[in-house]
Amino acid sequence: MNTHRVLSGIRATGRLHLGNYLGAVKGFLELQDNPTYQTLYMVADVHTLTTPYHIDELRKNRREVIIDYLAAGLDPKKSILFQQAEVNEHIELAFYFSSVTTIAKMQHLPTFKDKVKQYPEHATMALLNYPILMAADILVYKASLVPVGIDQEPHLEVAREIARRMNQDYGTDFPEPQRFATKGEYVPSLSGEGKMSKSVEGSFINLTDSLDEIRKKVRSVPTATVAGGEMTGGVKTLFTFLELCSPDQVASFKNEFEERTLKFVALKDAVTDAIYTMLKPLQEKRVKLVQDQAYIDNVICEGAEKARHIARKTVNEVKEKMGLE
Ligand code: TRP
Repeated sequence: MNTHRVLSGIRATGRLHLGNYLGAVKGFLELQDNPTYQTLYMVADVHTLTTPYHIDELRKNRREVIIDYLAAGLDPKKSILFQQAEVNEHIELAFYFSSVTTIAKMQHLPTFKDKVKQYPEHATMALLNYPILMAADILVYKASLVPVGIDQEPHLEVAREIARRMNQDYGTDFPEPQRFATKGEYVPSLSGEGKMSKSVEGSFINLTDSLDEIRKKVRSVPTATVAGGEMTGGVKTLFTFLELCSPDQVASFKNEFEERTLKFVALKDAVTDAIYTMLKPLQEKRVKLVQDQAYIDNVICEGAEKARHIARKTVNEVKEKMGLE
């Protein structure tokens, strides 16, 4: 039992949105309920420092994401829920890992290049070190399974390389972590282009959006003027949401699309209802949760303690093997 560990995290750049829920958190939930795994889920608040951010927002969001996790059904009795910054061992291990990682390798990662393009004034060492810290997040718990989106695959490859190097050079026993793919690993943006992202205004639905807000956002998805033929990005997006939130309705709408009888507003309203029906229980749970802030403090404190306990053991072992003890 609990022979394998699972670790994942979401950056604290905002509250969770529908893309995080369908793409990541649903996978977290699935693994949490599988007794083969010990699951650890964190808020990657230290990773937030790798791109420009607001101090007050980070302070708020690193707590809000924990509350979103709880509202979504992550259970501190089953999973270790924690904030990355509370476990110093991640940062410590990342430094040791940086000694087996070349600068050239980090500079060539597509994720690094993209962020430098997005924030040319912020090509910092923290950004360059992003994948090393992520490798430390995972390997400090010797986690072998990581539920994340497909866009994170290059980072996991770095983690595997670091694990191999460390095992070869220092005789450690790090696993080579694999990605756990979820059904909603690619949740499209409401703009009909690219993926749903916190950093793109108008692309996302918040988990706390009201029915009216969801309706307004879904209605703004661009659609073709006539049904039938090739689907545009926006129409595909609507079908993806229906598939993820109410799969039983897909076939009949597809039929209408092909027979050119489909009214896009009917499809949009079905998508709106499907999303809202899915989110409503989370929203109700959240309202109750925030009434007991002491409970949340307690979850955060206990999660950090449990995580530290495992992490310290790994770091001590690494220090010893590297000649620092
Ligand atoms: N890089 C991940 C993302 O942007 C977030 C993250 C940080 C993470 N550390 C991690 C994910 C460790 C999984 C495991 O989605």
